[in-house]
Amino acid sequence: MKIDVLLGLQWGDEGKGKVVDFLAPEYQVVARFQGGPNAGHTLEFDGIKHVLHQIPSGIFRPDIINVIGNGVVLDVVILRREIESLKKYGIDARKNLFISKKTQLILPTHRLLDAASEKAKGLSKIGSTLKGIGPAYSDKIARQGLRVGDLLLPDFQQRYEALREKHLNVLAFYNEPIELAETENAFFEAVEYLKECKIVDTEYLLNGYIKEGKKILAEGAQGSLLDIDFGSYPFVTSSNTMAAGACTGLGVAPATIGEVYGIFKAYGTRVGSGPFPTELHDEVGERMRKEGNEFGSTTGRPRRCGWLDLPSLRYAIMLSGVTQLFMMKADVLNIFEEIEVCTHYELPDGSRTSELPYDLESVTVKPVYKTMKGWNQSLKGITDYDALPQALQAYVRYLEGELGLPINIISTGPDRTQTILRTAVGKRK
Ligand code: GDP
Ligand code: IMO
Ligand code: MG
Repeated sequence: MKIDVLLGLQWGDEGKGKVVDFLAPEYQVVARFQGGPNAGHTLEFDGIKHVLHQIPSGIFRPDIINVIGNGVVLDVVILRREIESLKKYGIDARKNLFISKKTQLILPTHRLLDAASEKAKGLSKIGSTLKGIGPAYSDKIARQGLRVGDLLLPDFQQRYEALREKHLNVLAFYNEPIELAETENAFFEAVEYLKECKIVDTEYLLNGYIKEGKKILAEGAQGSLLDIDFGSYPFVTSSNTMAAGACTGLGVAPATIGEVYGIFKAYGTRVGSGPFPTELHDEVGERMRKEGNEFGSTTGRPRRCGWLDLPSLRYAIMLSGVTQLFMMKADVLNIFEEIEVCTHYELPDGSRTSELPYDLESVTVKPVYKTMKGWNQSLKGITDYDALPQALQAYVRYLEGELGLPINIISTGPDRTQTILRTAVGKRK
């Protein structure tokens, strides 16, 4: 049995949470492979709206095993809060949740370091979610991080104190006030709580499941254009958000990867700093933000909005070997008479390119647009692809032609039921 991977093709917030929850009944296991509580994955069904940060989005479906992989960075305080907040829905998350011993821990000082580093950057700040992501991954790569498995060791306290000492030295360099008492208390309480969770070598667990024939869905966080290697560096997150990240982030071989679902909004958004070629600074962008309720699920910040960008989508598809596309938030474009799609970029010398320039931040590219007719009508109650407005079907056909892949899901609203599936999941058109 193969592992299918679902990942964002833009700058995050494409609607991954909604689709993982929708697809989960087709799978027995959902596994997060990278990122941490910088993610905010929203699920809506039966009048419930819930945002998950650390727990995989399969948790609301009964009997699904959820796995936090080694590629994730874990804030134990946020995890504890999240597990507790699920209890009101009758969900005992600890029953169906496995956490890798090799998952890196986010310490209270990582969050302080994130804030100090962003402040020191001034105007060139990344726009981080300030959840300690960059510092936690830095410690992993510097081979000095603490991992979930370390919690179970008798000398965890000493290890923690040694790393905290290093962090405090760096914080002294930033000359920032250090308030740790409260957050450290919460951290150690959550550490005790976490010890009651299923902490295992999830690479054995997952490879065992593959052998048994269990269907696994790997859930990506963030988006391809925030990838540490291929995103708009340095305005990126600190992990590999592309399909390859599922292999390193779960300990599964490349040959075990099956379908790669690439998910994108029918337009574009970005939260935080960094280049965004099709960003709209006008009333159209404002209307998109309002209609799409484009405010960050983790930080509440307004998301920057703009038209769909084909060069960057093609790039993301290429990097991950995407096999199927899912288009989200089609309903948000209902309000427009005309819809623009960026087909190319114009460079400062007047030439055109369909590739992303190395330094998008300093090379100002001008998007070249194709204008398409909007559908300008509500999609409420439509459950069948053929019943969608002709202009929306034409938009889908055009994108399929340009991107060379089928668009197998069209999402028409935030609720689980507002999802049009064209071909059975896992089967290519
Ligand atoms: P994720 O990080 O990729 O899981 O996405 P987020 O949850 O951060 O952001 C997506 C937002 O769009 C959430 O508020 C979802 O409830 C909402 N959403 C998802 N799909 C649709 C859709 O098809 N239409 C509308 N209007 N909203 C959607
Ligand atoms: P989901 O999984 C959108 C952005 C931040 C910032 C940059 C680096 O919900 O799609 P970090 O906290 O990782 O150091 O921030 O990445 N960012 C996201 N943007 N969705 C996310 O996750 C994001 N996670 C990080 O806004 O620009
Ligand atoms: Mg999100």
